[in-house]
Amino acid sequence: MKVDLLVHSAAQLVTCASPGGPRRGPAMRDVGAIPGGAVAVHEGRVVAVGPTAELRQRFQPAETIDATGAVVCPGFVDPHTHVVYAGDRADEFERRIGGATYLEIMAAGGGILSTVRATRAATLGQLVAESRARLDQMLRLGTTTAEAKTGYGLDLATELRQLEAIAALDEAHALDLVPTFLGAHALPPEYAGRPDAYIDMVVEEMLPAAAAWHRRSRFTQRGVPLFVDVFCERGAFDATQSRRVLEAGRALGMALKAHVDEFADIGGLEVALELGATSVDHLDATGPEGIARLAASDTVAVVIPTVPFNLGSAHFADARAMVDAGAAVALTTDINPGSAPCPSLPLAMAIACRYQRLLPAEALVAATINAAHAIGLGGRVGSLEPGKDADLLVIDAPDYRHLAYQFGGNLVRTVVKHGRIV
Ligand code: NIG
Ligand code: FE
Repeated sequence: MKVDLLVHSAAQLVTCASPGGPRRGPAMRDVGAIPGGAVAVHEGRVVAVGPTAELRQRFQPAETIDATGAVVCPGFVDPHTHVVYAGDRADEFERRIGGATYLEIMAAGGGILSTVRATRAATLGQLVAESRARLDQMLRLGTTTAEAKTGYGLDLATELRQLEAIAALDEAHALDLVPTFLGAHALPPEYAGRPDAYIDMVVEEMLPAAAAWHRRSRFTQRGVPLFVDVFCERGAFDATQSRRVLEAGRALGMALKAHVDEFADIGGLEVALELGATSVDHLDATGPEGIARLAASDTVAVVIPTVPFNLGSAHFADARAMVDAGAAVALTTDINPGSAPCPSLPLAMAIACRYQRLLPAEALVAATINAAHAIGLGGRVGSLEPGKDADLLVIDAPDYRHLAYQFGGNLVRTVVKHGRIV
C-alpha cells in the first residue's frame, strides 16, 4: 500500500495506546513501547504501528523520517491553559519573592485582575500576536493539541474576543486548540461585593452567548466541544456559585471542567464530580476522601505541578496516591501569566516525577492519552493507534524516560502534526 509517510527505525516507538478510555492505576506504567518501531501515516492519520521490518514490507512511503537512535511518541496534549492573554506579571513574580502570596496579590486587585485590565485593553490582533508566540514555544516543546480558556475578559465583549482569538489561533497555527469558557474566573471590579449578581450575568447572558458563538464556530464543524469552567476557591467563587455555572453550561450542551482544591478544599470537587465533569483540575488540597471519589468516577484528575513550583511551594497534589487509587491522572502546564508562565509539558513531567513521585511512564501517559481524554478528544489524539491523527514527535533520546529525566533543555527534534512536519 502507498502511504504519505513512514517514520522508521526508532530506538523506541511509544504508542501510549489505550483503546477503552484513559489509562488508570498500574496500566499507567505501560507506554506501549515497540523497540525498533515504525509508524505509517496517510492523509494525516496513523495507518499502522509496528516493527520497522514489517511496516517496510507492507507500505511504500512517499516520504520517510529516519528515527534511528531516537524515541517516537505521540504529540503532547496540554489539557489546561490560559494561553490567550495580553501583558505579563513579572512585577508580581518579584513581589512574591519578597514574601507576598498569590492570594494576597489577588485580593489586592492584582493577579488575575491585572491581566484582565491588559486583556480588556488589547485588540483582537494584539491578543492573537502575543498568544501566537507562546503557542510557537509550546509546539517546539512538543505540544500538538491544547485546551485554551477565556477568563481574562470578565465582560461579555472581551470574553467573546478571547473566544475569537482562540478560533483565529486554531485556524492559523499548527497546534490545535479546544476552547473553554471561563467567565467565572474572578470577580470583576464592576461587581465588587456582588458575586451572586455577577454569576446571574454569567448564567443569563455570557453562557448563552458563548454557546451561540460555539455553534457557528469552526469548532462545531470539526466536532470539537466547548467546555465551561469555573474557579472554585476562597477569593473566587464558592461551591454554590460554581454549581450554578456548571449546571447552566451543561444545560446549554457544554462539557464541564472545574478549578478545584488549588489552595483550599471548599467543596468544588464534590460538585464537579456529581455533575459529571470531564476533568477537575489542580487538586493540590484534595485529601484521601476526595481521591477515593475521584478514583470511583470517570472524571480525569488534571494535576499541575508547575503551579506549586512557580509559587515556591513544596505542597503538590498527591498524584501518586491518585494513580495508586485508580484515578485517571493527566498533567498540564496551566500556562498563564501568574501561577505558571510555563509552555513546557516536559518540564511539568520532570517536576511531577520528582515531587509527585510519578514514574516517567506515568508522566508520559498523563501528558498524552489521559490529557486527550481530559479535553474530550481521547478518540482522536494522544496516542499512536490506527485511525487517530498522525501527531507525533521524534525525541533526541534512546529511551522515553529521558523526557522526564533530563530537564531545562528541549529534546524534541521533529514535530509532525496531522501527518505534516511542522
Ligand atoms: O489555573 N487558578 C486560577 N487560574 C489560573 C491562574 C490564572 C492567573 O494567575 O492569571 C490557574 O492557576
Ligand atoms: Fe487554570
